[in-house]
Amino acid sequence: KTDRSYACWLQVERIGEPALRDSYARRCGEIAVVGEGAVLHTAADELAAGIAAMLGDVPVRTAGQPRYARHLLLGKLQDLPAEIRVSLADAESRLGEEGYVIKTCGDRIVLAGNTDRAVLYAAFRLLRLMACGCGPEELSILDKPANGLRMINQWDNMDGSIERGYAGKSIFYRNNRIVDDLTRVRDYARLLASVGVNAIAVNNVNVHDEETRLIDRHLPDVSRLADVFRAYGIRLFLSVNYASPVQIGALETADPLDPGVRKWWADIARNIYNAIPDFGGFLVKADSEFRPGPFTYGRDHADGANMLAEALGPYGGLVIWRCFVYNCLQDWRDRTTDRAKAAYDHFKGHDGRFKDNVILQIKNGPMDFQVREPVSPLFGAMTETNQLLELQITQEYTGHQRHLCYLVPQWKEVLDFETYAKGEGSTVAQIASGALYNRKYGGMAAVSNIGDDLNWTGHLLAQANLYGYGRLAWNPSLSSEEITREWIVQTFGPDPVVADTVSRMLLESWNIYESYTAPLGVGWMVNPGSHYGPNVDGYEYSKWGTYHYADHAGIGVDRTVRTGTGYTAQYHPPRSDEYESLERCPDELLLFFHHVPYTHKLKSGKTVIQHIYDSRFEGAERAQGLVEAWRSLRGRIDESRYNQVLERLEEQAEHAKEWRDVINTYFWRKSGIPDALGRKIY
Ligand code: GCU
Repeated sequence: KTDRSYACWLQVERIGEPALRDSYARRCGEIAVVGEGAVLHTAADELAAGIAAMLGDVPVRTAGQPRYARHLLLGKLQDLPAEIRVSLADAESRLGEEGYVIKTCGDRIVLAGNTDRAVLYAAFRLLRLMACGCGPEELSILDKPANGLRMINQWDNMDGSIERGYAGKSIFYRNNRIVDDLTRVRDYARLLASVGVNAIAVNNVNVHDEETRLIDRHLPDVSRLADVFRAYGIRLFLSVNYASPVQIGALETADPLDPGVRKWWADIARNIYNAIPDFGGFLVKADSEFRPGPFTYGRDHADGANMLAEALGPYGGLVIWRCFVYNCLQDWRDRTTDRAKAAYDHFKGHDGRFKDNVILQIKNGPMDFQVREPVSPLFGAMTETNQLLELQITQEYTGHQRHLCYLVPQWKEVLDFETYAKGEGSTVAQIASGALYNRKYGGMAAVSNIGDDLNWTGHLLAQANLYGYGRLAWNPSLSSEEITREWIVQTFGPDPVVADTVSRMLLESWNIYESYTAPLGVGWMVNPGSHYGPNVDGYEYSKWGTYHYADHAGIGVDRTVRTGTGYTAQYHPPRSDEYESLERCPDELLLFFHHVPYTHKLKSGKTVIQHIYDSRFEGAERAQGLVEAWRSLRGRIDESRYNQVLERLEEQAEHAKEWRDVINTYFWRKSGIPDALGRKIY
């Protein structure tokens, strides 16, 4: 663990600037902790370690009354001395459970909130302020998360593999057991807590045989995992197999309306809460991609989810029910079935039927984490159902962490997307958080991108995606630029040349990746199975419902009401009209919504075919540009981290040429239309 990449954005280097260092040093010599809780002590430990590293002196720790006039004071607001509470005015009522205040009064800095967890977030915030060069004078911060649930989904299997994992093996499991040494899990919990994550589902949504037993046989080990996360304020969830009563319970059915089944789950819940009193709940992939579910028994999603909700309800547990449900045995000849419509069609009709402790987890797009797709119309379609926005940090369709693809700008577009469900201001961020319809639960979940690679994420710069996810889940209105800067300074230090260069690289990388892969929102064009590398027709004649319909004359999927599948009607006006209209549909989504001739003119003034050629050529060049940009940083970044990134960027540049040539060649052969600039196409 000596490589610096292991510490990610928690490098805590000695502060170089003497004035800044002194200013913190005069207030950070003593950490006074009011209260006993484990999470509060985590906060104090983190502060002590961070301060020691950044200032060079280990602070004194006191319990209760501070010994010196100059100090850092942390604790729950209600436990703090009256005069301090008065100085924080009405904070108590404004902070909720997880919000915090950081306030400098002379030579004292107070970190407080209504819970220990809030104090932990304050501690990490103060360390971030220090790392980012922000002085302690006059600090007066009141911050609270926009989203109640800020969740991570691990797609880890107990054999140690990770579904769609690109950074080594699982840090949780080996040989069908939970690992004994949880040091690495603890370090992960720390990274997650530092950006405000408060929930984690620790196993793959596709629950295989051994994993089905996490709820019984492996419970003592799951409880050890929960202990580690609890110290960092993170609640543990499990993905469960809907057929568990049959598979491990020896029942003949898993019918949600069967009294025996209901009792079976109630018993399971009781056992779990005996072992893990703050257990978060279940994450469920049911009736999706061959996973069992209530359909088998002629029941629907609401029946299925409510039955589990009833079992967990008495303990405050949640059921997170995924909406990634579609027909994955489609016939490619069938032009009427449209996978994009599936989630909305399956769930909208059940609005209002789900119990209060059920949350529907909805992928950002209607298909599956493509580099570009529209926002799922299910956001804005339900007013009486708790919802959670699901994102994918792991780069399944965006280059397997071998390509640089910084996803924060994409997620920002999703969060800021205006659904018009309740007029203007009905953004996805407002819907997911629960604010728009005043829902009890809401927030964000994302599939993790980490494994046991020393640098966690394979591509070192992919750490920025994990960081950015956490920051956005806390505060969706942060800008991509702010998040990017923060990450760079904490990861590589204050060198402005590094900050400018890396920031530009990250912020352009999504667009670069898009420009040499599938064009104009059409998606896929990847090798089946792995989803890596170009294969234009890889999914064209498959059962998965993912087609581009390219022929000699044109390309794209007609999803209009007038002549196509009718998908555009799932949006509210004026969105539905915008997508329906060939003239008004945004260029970048054109082929998602319309089938057009190659000679169709885009808003940019180019024809579709010329756009395909131009952006593939430019994309490959810009990928090469990333290599050069990084090379310009040689000597400014330690050699080990410099080299590991360089290696990946060089591989990306090569692979981008492959993408360029495969796609260009395919369309030149299909269309017979030459490149206007006469460049080499094969
Ligand atoms: C994608 C992915 C699968 C995953 C699924 C899901 O289809 O390729 O590996 O299981 O999403 O989200 O459930």
